[in-house]
Formats: sequence, structure tokens, C-alpha cells
Amino acid sequence: MSSNSKVQILNHPLVIHKLSVLRNKETSPKEVRELLKELSLLLALESTRDLPLISKGEQLSPVGSYEGFKIGQNVGLFPILRAGLGLMDGFLSMVPTAKTHHLGLYREKSTFLPVEYYNKLPSTCAIEAGFVLDPMIATAGTAIASVSILKDWGLKNIKFCCVVASRVGLDSLIAAHPDIEIYVYEIFCAVDEVLTSGKYIVPGLGDAGDRIFNTF
Ligand code: URA
Repeated sequence: MSSNSKVQILNHPLVIHKLSVLRNKETSPKEVRELLKELSLLLALESTRDLPLISKGEQLSPVGSYEGFKIGQNVGLFPILRAGLGLMDGFLSMVPTAKTHHLGLYREKSTFLPVEYYNKLPSTCAIEAGFVLDPMIATAGTAIASVSILKDWGLKNIKFCCVVASRVGLDSLIAAHPDIEIYVYEIFCAVDEVLTSGKYIVPGLGDAGDRIFNTF
């Protein structure tokens, strides 16, 4: 894993292999879902590395005693509908006690500005470690808006987890929210450099939601 300031880039042979298959246009929606789940397990492992543990005191195994531990913070997952659902199951497998709050935001077609359409956050924030899930950061409009929503709600500790980011999107997200951490998978060209006029990442992997849900 390499890092610069708040951006943690996961650079591992298994990740590079899986991401390479994920990007391929011949990869089926079933495989896309499986690959995203596998990648999200690895992303969850890295992004939860600094969760605190609390002791459960002495416990018994069949042959002796040991000190038990459990995660010491309330973890919240915030998948951005709909592509963020592709990362949710992997995170939930790793942190089954997490609370999941879906956020619905879409990019308006002509302005590319984010429009919020679903938000059922409870009135007070009891989450101590929040993980925003979205496979793609393109312009970062949606990412910036979702982090703002969570900050306004009262969430202090936010990590943004994604699979492919554009350079310009990452820079925008860091500029808008310099206090959050961002985890992103890297393949040789790292963070992809190109955004099309329709704001798709090149090479990217296409429309992640369409590829997960087979809605081309
Ligand atoms: N969202 C996607 O799903 N893909 C992109 O390339 C950009 C935004």
C-alpha cells in the first residue's frame, strides 16, 4: 500500500489482477458483482485498520483462557445508491455489526451536479467511524456532497472508499474535505487521468451501476 497525505492507494498483485478483470468490457455483471465484493473485502480490511479494540476480559477456549477483544467504535456504512451497493456486502462481511445507512444521490445529466433523492439518516448521529462506499470518484460532485451531508449530520470520522478515481475528482474531494481519508485501488496508471465530456473515467470501468445491475 502506498500513500500520500490522506489518500491510501492499495497496490497489491491480487488487487491489480482483479481490477484488471473488472475493467474488461467482456466481464459479465455476475463477475462484476463478485469482483467488487472481493475487492471490497480487501478495501474493508485496509480502511478499518485503525479501529480501536476494547477488551472483553478473560474468556475460555476449550483448552485455556485468553483475553477477548471487540471493535470499540460504532461503525457506519454509507453506500451511495446505487453503485455503492456493490461494495456493501464485502464491508458487512468484515464488520457485521455495522449500521448501514443508504444515501441516494445522482448526477444531473446536463450539469453533472449531485441531486439528493434518498436520505433516511436518524435525527442524531451515533456513528463513531463512518465509511462512505462508492466504486467511482469521477468529478467527485457526489462524493463531496455525500461527505457534506454526513458532516452536517454530525459524523466526525469519515473514510471514503472507492475502486477507481479520476485524478481531478480526487483533487476536488481532497480540496473540499481535506480532513477525510480516502482509500482507492490503484492499477499501473494509478488514479485514472482522463474524464470524458460525459464525465466518465477513462479507462475506468464504465458505468459501475449498469455493470453491477445489468442495465445497459
Ligand atoms: N460513475 C461511473 O459509474 N463510472 C464513471 O466512469 C464515472 C462515474
